[in-house]
Amino acid sequence: MKRTLLLAVALAAAAQTAAGATTVAEVKKKGVLILGTDPTFSPFEFKDKTGQITGFDIDIALAVAKDLGVKLQIQAVGFGALMPQSVTSGRVDMAMSGITITDERAKVVSFSAPYYRSAQVFIVKGGNPDKFNWPSDVKGKTIGVQANTTGQFVADDVLKSKGAVLKVYDDFAAGLADIRAGRIAALVGDAPTVTDLQKRLPGQFARAGKDLAAEDYGMVFAKNSDLAAAANKTLARLKASGEYQKLLDRWIVQK
Ligand code: ARG
Repeated sequence: MKRTLLLAVALAAAAQTAAGATTVAEVKKKGVLILGTDPTFSPFEFKDKTGQITGFDIDIALAVAKDLGVKLQIQAVGFGALMPQSVTSGRVDMAMSGITITDERAKVVSFSAPYYRSAQVFIVKGGNPDKFNWPSDVKGKTIGVQANTTGQFVADDVLKSKGAVLKVYDDFAAGLADIRAGRIAALVGDAPTVTDLQKRLPGQFARAGKDLAAEDYGMVFAKNSDLAAAANKTLARLKASGEYQKLLDRWIVQK
């Protein structure tokens, strides 16, 4: 009896520390800002050699936490569960993961102002002799997309009707492995991560055809949370002080 009660108390306490906040006041009260991120998206979020989650997004989230006067706590969440459920369920206070601002998503969460301009692009095997071309040779080709990403959404919209066969990956790395093995013709991915990949693994991957769509990344908060305005203030501060440019120079490989 006593034991179950203790357990219940412990569980309630655990639930409390893990609970997400929807207001600045709540975050300040708990003293931590919980960031949800899928750290498989270098240079925005990835694990460094020591296993620590780091990257461009993490530095921005650290600045938001600092301006709120709280600590940042990072939770790794797969992208499929991150958007939007981790935020709408209150598991995290905010999500940053190279997340594209879309009208559909904005129905259920609140975005900060855009903080990075990106695009959906095609990746093929490096030195691929029959280079894949969009929009001309999509018909009958198998093209990979990551589940629940804007890459999948745009591919569903414009590639399917042109006769492409889509292969959906939970994990982007599995799609890359299939490109290497020649199992798929191309993979749809975010421009800055592709540029980063090409730098880290020279010659293995190439960008092909025209870009699919331009997009903007935003920080994600619970619907109508005043944390979005707080994040915008931090963004404005980082831009005005030149720190934002320093972060770009430090993390992002320019094409
Ligand atoms: N920008 C795309 C989207 O919002 C892909 C983001 C994927 N991010 C990640 N950490 N895996 O859907």
